[in-house]
Amino acid sequence: MTAGREAWGLTHLLGTEGLAAEDAVKVLDTAEVFFEVSRRPVRKAPTLRGKTVVNLFFEPSTRTRTSFEIAGKRLSADVVNISASSSSVSKGESLLDTVKNLDAMQPDILVVRHTASGAPHYVASRTRAHVINAGDGTHEHPTQALLDAFTIRRSLGRIAGLTVAICGDVAHSRVARSNAMLLTTLGAKVHFAGPRTLLPPAPDAYPVTTFDRIEPALEGADVVMVLRIQRERMAGALLPSLREYARKFGLNAARLARAKPDAIVMHPGPINRGVEIDGSLADGPRSVILDQVEAGVAVRMALLYLLSAEPGQAPLA
Ligand code: NCD
Repeated sequence: MTAGREAWGLTHLLGTEGLAAEDAVKVLDTAEVFFEVSRRPVRKAPTLRGKTVVNLFFEPSTRTRTSFEIAGKRLSADVVNISASSSSVSKGESLLDTVKNLDAMQPDILVVRHTASGAPHYVASRTRAHVINAGDGTHEHPTQALLDAFTIRRSLGRIAGLTVAICGDVAHSRVARSNAMLLTTLGAKVHFAGPRTLLPPAPDAYPVTTFDRIEPALEGADVVMVLRIQRERMAGALLPSLREYARKFGLNAARLARAKPDAIVMHPGPINRGVEIDGSLADGPRSVILDQVEAGVAVRMALLYLLSAEPGQAPLA
């Protein structure tokens, strides 16, 4: 499929690893246009009239799924949501058969979330539609990284030269991985921090500095990104207890004081209040957590447009 090539140059968005800085900046700049649309009294543009977007979610999701649905609807696309529990997957249908059947209905974009790392790549090889990875196992979550970059740029005016501390359960976090790749491509310095059992097994595989304590990782940081403890992805006992984790690694006011005075606090959600972050910081003046959610709609509108608009078509036409 070539539609969208003139606008962007990519056929799918499967990850931020290897995503060129200019392609990422194009998404962020395009999202600025849609961010304004989402703040108007009438939040709708005709851009994707006649296009079909299928959200295929094999894992639970609140923000990402809703955000893709709203993004598609604000661009006038027809949006269909499928969750594994209500589809024929629960009757034993394979991923390949599901994709072949959806493909036969001529969707323009398939948005895929799956528990298996690499599933969206497999889907992309079996459909004529454009594929967006909405989170695959512990691998990548590129749209989250792009909305995080958009939020950082809007809050602090730039990305290049900033220090971003990504704290918590890094080992299981596709958000951490996608952010590390994208933010370093855009010129930021990235720290990973968490207990040794929750750091990636081969941290040298990432362009980051790793810390097994939170305090030194926060020293002078411009952005503090906190991650959820993903108990559902832990095979064994990687943590003594959540109480112990909160005491040693949770973000509290004393730890945040080590970051820059105007540092922002981010979290991709869902939040475990009192575990990885104090509730008062999540709701506090330095938190941009809900700005991230607002940015998510604009960034996903930008991606739907860049992948599937007609060549030469303007964002709001
Ligand atoms: C994250 C995810 O699903 O990867 N949430 C999200 O999409 N905003 C992070 C998480 O589950 O902790």
